[in-house]
Amino acid sequence: MKILSIESTCDETAVAVVEDGRKILSDKICSQADLHALYGGVVPEIASRKHIEAISLLAEQAITEAGITRSQIDAVAVSYAPGLIGAVLVGVNFAKSCALALGVPLIPVHHIRGHMAANYLAYPELEPPFLCLAISGGNSLLADVRGYTDMRILGCTRDDAAGECFDKTARVLGLPYPGGKPIDELSKTGDDSKYVFPQAHIESNPYDMSFSGLKTAVINLVHNSEQKGEPIDRASLAASFTKAVSDALVPRAMRAIDELGYKKLVIAGGVAANSRIRRDFQNAAAEKNIELYIPPLKLCGDNGAMIGAQGYYEYLAGNIAGSDLNAYASMDINGSF
Ligand code: KG4
Repeated sequence: MKILSIESTCDETAVAVVEDGRKILSDKICSQADLHALYGGVVPEIASRKHIEAISLLAEQAITEAGITRSQIDAVAVSYAPGLIGAVLVGVNFAKSCALALGVPLIPVHHIRGHMAANYLAYPELEPPFLCLAISGGNSLLADVRGYTDMRILGCTRDDAAGECFDKTARVLGLPYPGGKPIDELSKTGDDSKYVFPQAHIESNPYDMSFSGLKTAVINLVHNSEQKGEPIDRASLAASFTKAVSDALVPRAMRAIDELGYKKLVIAGGVAANSRIRRDFQNAAAEKNIELYIPPLKLCGDNGAMIGAQGYYEYLAGNIAGSDLNAYASMDINGSF
């Protein structure tokens, strides 16, 4: 089954063709990151306008590169929540038009379910059940994935997402948007024990996370140093900050692995590209003798193929949208607002 797959929830317009949820036939991405970097973050209206400009050509390219004709497309999948509402609306409306014109089913895909499914593209042997930690620019959550479309949220961030915290920290360090990669690079020459940052503990749910305190601590440290005229060791600050994020993620995921008795841990989302976090998870997984799945770097960030991967399983589960499908700025992985 060949699915034309559309993603436009933030600042990447992406269209892919995916076969049977596992094989990428084409995967086209048009990133707007350089444009938003001028403003230090995503400007929603610019994002929507750039999606409108890019999406049709990208779809044509995706179909051509897949080596198929339009008549060979069996369904259209689209990321319909969560995200910047104007941006998501562009993808949803385009997908609806494609499905109508082609006379094929329209499949709604939750963006974070898509991030999780990026792992199905990279690891043909991977099947639920597993524990999944999704860490992206807008969301951070731990989920018990019992089936392809059957998942339970164990915990999530109470405030900022991990990626957002990377982006804000980068900004205060004068690094470009999006900040995750530049912090990753800078931290490689730093001492991760030079600065000590607070860890949030949430009484009511050990799997919930909080990153706003960490973000504030970094901002305060930088501002205080500037006011006192004290130099900052930027590389060590980046390394210490990344360690703090990793220390918030790895032990929580390992605790959940123990409690649920799982042997498979899946990491997903843009922050899964972080070299320190990848290494820490690899070490923890080796220590516990569990299987660890992290997407290759090109499938960590937003892409169209991941929507096609999850779209296939949504289709098999009978999750087909009507012509009244809408876009949603916020929604959890099980459809609750
Ligand atoms: O998954 P994603 O592309 O978008 C959302 O669905 O939100 O994630 C984007 C986030 C950004 O915050 C970006 O700074 C972060 O992923 N990111 C990283 C790295 N590469 C991207 N964070 C840490 N280390 C990286 N190497």
